[in-house]
Formats: sequence, structure tokens, C-alpha cells
Amino acid sequence: MNTVTVDDAVVLALARPDIVALAPYEHALYAPTLERLHANELPWPPLSEDSGSALHRYPEPQPAALVAALAAQYGVSTEQLLIGRGSDEGIDLLTRAFCRAGVDAVITCPPTFGMYAVAARIQGAEVISVPLVERYALDDAGVIAALSRSVKLVWLCSPNNPTGNSLDAAAVRRVLEAARGRALVVIDEAYIEFSKCSSWIKSLPEYPHLVILRTLSKAQGLAGARIGTVIASPTVIRLLRKIIPPYAIARPTSFAAEQALQEHHRAIANERIERICAERERLRNALIRSPWVKRVYPSDANFLLLSTTNARRVLERLQAVSLLARDFSGKPGLDEAVRLTVGTPEQNNRVIEALECSP
Ligand SMILES: Cc1ncc(COP(=O)(O)O)c(C=O)c1O
Repeated sequence: MNTVTVDDAVVLALARPDIVALAPYEHALYAPTLERLHANELPWPPLSEDSGSALHRYPEPQPAALVAALAAQYGVSTEQLLIGRGSDEGIDLLTRAFCRAGVDAVITCPPTFGMYAVAARIQGAEVISVPLVERYALDDAGVIAALSRSVKLVWLCSPNNPTGNSLDAAAVRRVLEAARGRALVVIDEAYIEFSKCSSWIKSLPEYPHLVILRTLSKAQGLAGARIGTVIASPTVIRLLRKIIPPYAIARPTSFAAEQALQEHHRAIANERIERICAERERLRNALIRSPWVKRVYPSDANFLLLSTTNARRVLERLQAVSLLARDFSGKPGLDEAVRLTVGTPEQNNRVIEALECSP
């Protein structure tokens, strides 16, 4: 039995009471040494199957080997993490576990990743917007002032998508202090590997209401595998485990992720991160000389936000050399903005040429 501490009780009091009380679905026992006549599977592997991925069998719900590898990677215990289908699933699970439709609310700080608000709207929760201020800095006083009784989740993204900047640590800490016992603070660190800032994971013991999202989609280059991790207190994780669909992590996916986390692959990933960061600075220095670009925002991520003279024309010029960038023009706080992912040196050269950056 788990003993409930004061911290646990405070976090549980923020959650939906019906989810706290929910008896989760009991999935088929995962016991690889026994023969499976308990899950209504076929006994034969698919005809197309290549060696040993056993796709005729339901996968292990939270694959133990991958859980252990991710716990080691992030420096937490296995009870502190939940693997989902990308961070997107973590965003969805947190919203569903903590927000009652028509009653509760979340705070987001736009311009930021759109899924926080979309997940809230799907759930019927109110979205309270506290926009980033000058140079896309966190308005910590604004967030703290907006912390009403209905707010259950505060979404912070650092480095932030689409602006690329990391949030000031002192401002984040002020929000964490003010939200204690009042709301969960979720820090989405999807791009942290490209930044020099350290992760908030080390602050988990100080803040039981802190939740961190990490993903293998960006720096580890596994966007297609869909592996994201929610890292939080065991109490929060136990709650999310109740509502995640039973067999969320497909076996080929967990296998790919386990491989990526092996030491020799991690070394290659680190080298690639360094290459992307070097290219990011080269691209930035070139783009500030483009007649189409008014400003290139500093970035701690693997993309650059450009303030352009005309977003549509910039996108057309890039498409003419077969390159897609993301149009953010017209979005609040993002006048004529284009977000460009850092590519290979060859792709970046094509960007530099297409946008007529003077040498
Ligand atoms: C800030 C941020 N969080 C989360 C995600 C979703 O990532 P995942 O692929 O892990 O679902 C993205 C994807 O672009 C993102 O930019």
C-alpha cells in the first residue's frame, strides 16, 4: 500500500475526484514466461512480420526496459515517470486527470505550443491566456495574478515553441512558489537538449506540484516513434496511469526507443545536437542579412523564429526550392512570423540562397 503524504494529499485534492476514485481497467497480465491464452490474440505472428517483434501479442503496457532506460536518462526513479505516445499524450492525460469540464481552467502563455489550449478545449476546460511580454519573457506576475481557484494547470514551455527562447529561471521559480498547493505547474522541455539551460527535473523534490514533459521526438530524432515522458511525483504518475489506454506503447516503438537510449547511440545523438546548434547560429547570422527578414530571434531550440517583411512571400520563396517552413503570421504576438527548423547544411544553404542573404 502507498502511504499518502501531505504533499500527495495536496496534489490529489487538485485532481478530478472521479479520477482519484476511478478503478482502472485491468489489462491482461504481462508474463512473458507463460503461454498466453488470456488476451484473445491469435497464436501465430503476422505473415509480413520480420524477426521477433511479436505483433500478434499485446505489448507490455509500460515496457519495463524502456521505463528503466528513460529513468536513467532523466535521473529519476521509475515511479516518477509515465511513457506516452509523444508529449502530446502527456498533455492530454494531464488535462483529463485534472480538469473538470465546465468548472476548471488552465493557464497558457501564448505565443506557445498550441496543444495545451486545444487539449483544454476538448476537455471543456477554460483557457486563461497570459501572453508572454517583451522579448517573449514570462509574465510571472500576470500568471500569479491569474491563479484563481479554478486553475488546475499552468503550462510553461522552455525553450518555448515557436519563439525559441528559454524562460527566465527566477520567473519560473516565482510561479512555482505561488502555485504550491493551488495548481500543477507543467514545464514542457521538448527542446531542452538544444539549450544550455538545465532541466527543472532536479527541482522535483522541492515542488510536489511540478510536472516535466520530455520527448524523444526532437533531439533524439524519433518523432515517428511517438515516445514522450511525463515526469512527476509518483502520486501524479499513478493517477495518469489510471487513464492512459492499456497498450499505448507499440513494441517496435519501444524497441526503437530503447536502442536510441543505448550509450553508443546517445553519443551520436549528442554529436548531432552539437551540429544542429552550430548550424542554427550559422543560419541565424546569415538570415539577419536577408532583405526579407526584419529580425531573427535568438533560439535555444532546433528552429528559428523569423520576423519577416512578408510571411507569404518568404514561404513562397522557400517552397520554390522545395522547402517547407511554418507560417505563424497573424497569430497573437507573431506579426508576419515564420518558424524555420534547422536542417542539414545543404538545406540551410538553400534557405540562405532563397532568402537572398548577402554574404
Ligand atoms: C513544445 C512542444 N511540446 C510537445 C510537442 C509534442 O511532441 P511529441 O512529438 O513528443 O508529441 C511539441 C511538438 O512539436 C512541441 O513543440
